[in-house]
Amino acid sequence: MYRYIGNKTKLTAVILDRIAELIGLNGTVADIMAGTGTVSYELRKRGYSVVASDMMTYSYHHLIVNLTLSEAPDFRTLISSGRLGILRSENSYEAVLMYLNSLPPVKSFFFEEFSPDGTPSNGGEPRKYFTSDNAAKIDSIRETINEWVTNSLVTPAEESLLKHTLIMAVNEIANISGTYGYFLSDFKKNATDSIVLKPLVFYPTNSEGHIVKQGFAEELASSISADLCYIDPPYMKRQYAANYHILETLARGDFPDAIGKSGLRDWWDQHSKLCTKTRGLQSFETIMHDLNAPYFLVSYSEDGLFSLEQLVQTFSKFGKVTTQEIDYARFRSNNSKLPKQLKEYLITVKR
Ligand SMILES: C[S@@+](CC[C@H](N)C(=O)[O-])C[C@H]1O[C@@H](n2cnc3c(N)ncnc32)[C@H](O)[C@@H]1O
Repeated sequence: MYRYIGNKTKLTAVILDRIAELIGLNGTVADIMAGTGTVSYELRKRGYSVVASDMMTYSYHHLIVNLTLSEAPDFRTLISSGRLGILRSENSYEAVLMYLNSLPPVKSFFFEEFSPDGTPSNGGEPRKYFTSDNAAKIDSIRETINEWVTNSLVTPAEESLLKHTLIMAVNEIANISGTYGYFLSDFKKNATDSIVLKPLVFYPTNSEGHIVKQGFAEELASSISADLCYIDPPYMKRQYAANYHILETLARGDFPDAIGKSGLRDWWDQHSKLCTKTRGLQSFETIMHDLNAPYFLVSYSEDGLFSLEQLVQTFSKFGKVTTQEIDYARFRSNNSKLPKQLKEYLITVKR
């Protein structure tokens, strides 16, 4: 269950159909705010070459997995190191997951900072993102992965796959309502289940020729060329780095200061200008000016920071603009009182 603000799972068919209308069924498509990688993955499945990027580290790992793996890597160095002992599966990836699932819990960073039996380093009240048992299991799993990475026992693709698999498992048992901006005061049912790493099912073809990058789109734009650039920007003030800080910590494998009541890491280095009214339109201009593509396709929401008129006015500086409106169920946290339906825009810019 990946509840990611602005995830396009329900809209991929419409987006992919529009891309096919504009450039046909082959070519290179850039997905420069790719998030969970849902759109990139569908583009790969339809046979496109994809250049995918996002500013978040967890997104980088999701993209490596979604775009470049067609089967599980063989974990050759790790297996031959003897670290895993006697293997209980012929499939190396599954053997690695079995090993990680059976590690004894360790009361370390996640236990101390994010569980009710922990002692946060800032002296504040214990937090309840995870049960104490799950937090200690996450500690043992992530610190073991860190050790494998430090000692070059896993390849970069194997590291991405393990981190992707861990994040997907953590999403299942996190005690949150939608995002990691805060935790719930009481443990909800699925948060009390034990965390289990589950093997991913791989898409078997078209894993070659894709490019994955990490960084701000404004900065990467001049290094990207594509037949079409899909842009799925944030549309609210809520910063992704703050709302998914725990996933970023899992992806980086680090031990940041956990600040304030909710234990956020310092996220200023991943602050997005697109979440601000003052600098968002300038960011679109930089991207459209610098990125080499004859078409841009931009997703935006009716209740976004910018009105459709503002966007059209900005985009018109770069080409002919047409807008498609789609009715779409609103991303809602559990207690939201907002109405259910709203419009999503799909805006095409033809240079
Ligand atoms: C609406 S989400 C994308 C959702 C994605 N299409 C999916 O289906 O999961 C917006 C994404 O833009 C990223 N982002 C925000 N500002 C950015 C920037 N300036 N450069 C690159 N990525 C940015 C966020 O990290 C987030 O993942």
